[in-house]
Amino acid sequence: MEDVKRMRELHRARFDAEPEVFAAPGRVNLIGEHTDYAEGFVMPVAIDFATLAAISPRDDGRVVMWAENYGEERSFDAAALPPERSGEWSDYPVGVLRMLAEAGVAIPASANSGLSLSLWGDVPLGSGLSSSASVEVATATAVVALVGATISGPELARLCQRAENEFVGANCGIMDQFISANGRANHALLLDCRDLSYRLAPIPENVALVIANTMVRHSIAGGEYGTRRAEVELACRILAGHRPEIRFLRDATVEDLARWGSEIPEAARKRARHIITENARTVAAADALERHDMKQLGELMREAHWSYSRDFEASCAEADRMVELAETLPGLIGARLTGGGFGGCTVNLVEQEQANGFKAALGKLYAQETGIEPEIYVCHASDGAHRVAP
Ligand code: GLA
Repeated sequence: MEDVKRMRELHRARFDAEPEVFAAPGRVNLIGEHTDYAEGFVMPVAIDFATLAAISPRDDGRVVMWAENYGEERSFDAAALPPERSGEWSDYPVGVLRMLAEAGVAIPASANSGLSLSLWGDVPLGSGLSSSASVEVATATAVVALVGATISGPELARLCQRAENEFVGANCGIMDQFISANGRANHALLLDCRDLSYRLAPIPENVALVIANTMVRHSIAGGEYGTRRAEVELACRILAGHRPEIRFLRDATVEDLARWGSEIPEAARKRARHIITENARTVAAADALERHDMKQLGELMREAHWSYSRDFEASCAEADRMVELAETLPGLIGARLTGGGFGGCTVNLVEQEQANGFKAALGKLYAQETGIEPEIYVCHASDGAHRVAP
């Protein structure tokens, strides 16, 4: 609430206008990694780190954006948004404005309209907790409300994903934007990335969500995410040559892989094995959570981590170590590397009463072994994008 108050004051002082404030969270994924663009299943949770977007109308035909985290302003003629990305923070909100305009949402763009937008967030950057998706979804939610349009949560997520794919130039799937737009407090969300249908499963009250940052920086704009995606798509094409109904790896089975896997180059075959088994694990994990079978959920998370590390080869020594250390500690239910991979954070489900001790012990052990001081956050499953009451 303090942050919201500060954002309001900051916006008022800067733009001399009373804003409406919207929040969109980052996320942690419990299970289902790199399965979203294979039209498979993911099970993320929205967390209590978020981007706040304060917005107010203008009457000079300009879009003026202020990024409090960078202390920088960008402004444009509302009717002539930048056509190309600049490689800066402003690409995310500009991409969203462009996609909204393409989708027919009339962003204020006449000589006597426009908008002022202030952005600030506390989602740790480059940590695999979806700071970018939270900026996109916060911006989209704020602009849609300003112009009085209606757009469903799933549609809003698609639009933000397109902003990232087509304008920012990162070839991500739908998971991050979807959970930021549609998450629910105290729940995990099982999403079918084929048709965007989803179910919410409550996280038991006696379970804490502990996120451990390896401090190894992760970036999905970096080459590795794209390489993995290309390998997944190659494996899919080869399998589809035998069974045309395989449109995405979502449609493939371990039997398909056993039968035709020898035709797939080794690396791509391993990536495919991760995706196919991960889809099955994710659905099983949602079932386990729904029946409160935390032991089973923890076991699936553990399998998922090693599949991500060994078959998908998207972990790093530090993340593997963070998971192994967590497994030596009392209270752990399940731990794995979360997000796009190659660094970032592990997600740990921990018995609530052990959470503080777990946090302290994990931090100490990791620092001793790697020489890196980690950041560890005890988080709460939070609501997706929403307007923050004045
Ligand atoms: C990043 C992408 C998501 C998803 C994950 C991996 O977070 O933005 O779409 O592919 O990596 O599960």
